[in-house]
Amino acid sequence: MEKKKIIVGNWKMNPLTQKEAEKLFTNVAKNISTTKTTEIVICPPFLYLEKLKKISLGHSLTGGARKISLGAQNAFYGDIGAFTGEVSAEMLYDIGVRYVILGHSERRGMGENNIDINKKIKSALVAGLRPILCVGENVRDPDHGYFNLVKIQLEECLSGISKNSFGKIIIAYEPIWAISSTPDRKDATPSDSMEMAIFIKKVLSDKFGKDVAGTRIIYGGSVSTKNAKDFLQNGGVDGLLVGNASLNAKKFIDIIKICEALKQ
Ligand code: PGA
Repeated sequence: MEKKKIIVGNWKMNPLTQKEAEKLFTNVAKNISTTKTTEIVICPPFLYLEKLKKISLGHSLTGGARKISLGAQNAFYGDIGAFTGEVSAEMLYDIGVRYVILGHSERRGMGENNIDINKKIKSALVAGLRPILCVGENVRDPDHGYFNLVKIQLEECLSGISKNSFGKIIIAYEPIWAISSTPDRKDATPSDSMEMAIFIKKVLSDKFGKDVAGTRIIYGGSVSTKNAKDFLQNGGVDGLLVGNASLNAKKFIDIIKICEALKQ
C-alpha cells in the first residue's frame, strides 16, 4: 500500500480573487521543484481549479507546479443531473482534479451527514478521485465518548467500500476544538493525534480487515511551521491537512520542506 507522506492545503473560501489565487499557487509552485518524497495537494475553491490546473501544466520548465495535485473541497454524488448548485466528482476529474476533501467539519456544520458523505466517497472513487475523509470530535469529553463518535463517523462514511479502494482513501483526523477558526480553540498535541491515529487504524482493521490498517492518516487542526515537525514525527500520521497556514506561500512551503527533511 502506498505510504508516501502527503501535505494538503485547504484554502477554504479563500482568497477573494482569481489573481490572488494564481499568485499564491505560483509562489508555492516555484519553490518546490525538488520535492521527491512528499505528495502535495492544494484544494482551492471550485472556481479557481481549472485556471490553476492550466498554470500547473504550463510550468514544465521548473516542474514545481506539476508536482502539485489539485483537490476540491467537496463533490456531489452522481455524475450529472438535476442537482442545482452542485458539482460532481466526474466533472472535477474531467478538468484534472485528483483529490477531494469530504466530510470536513465546516460542511458537516452545514448539515452534511455520514450517509451523504458515504455516497460522495463512493462517487469520488468511481470518478477516479482520491477522497480525503475528515473525521473528528467537537470536544474531548472526560468519558472518552469522542472515540465512539469517530468510530461511527468512520464506519458510516466508509460503509460498503471495498478493501481495494482503501489505498486511494486518506483519513484526516481533525479535532474540531483545535481548528484555527473554532472560537476558544485549544492546541492539540502530537500525542492526541497519535492516540487517535492508533484508534482509527484499529477501527479500520476491525471493520474492514487487517489489510486496510495501512490506510494513510493525516492530522489537521492549526498546523503551523512551529508544530508540523512534531506532528509528523510524533503524531502517528503520514501527513498534514493545513488550513490557515496554506494561505501563506512561505509558511506552506516551509511545512512541505519540514516534511521532506524527515526520514520516510
Ligand atoms: P486550520 O484548518 O489549519 O486553519 O486549523 C484546518 C482545516 O480546517 O482543514
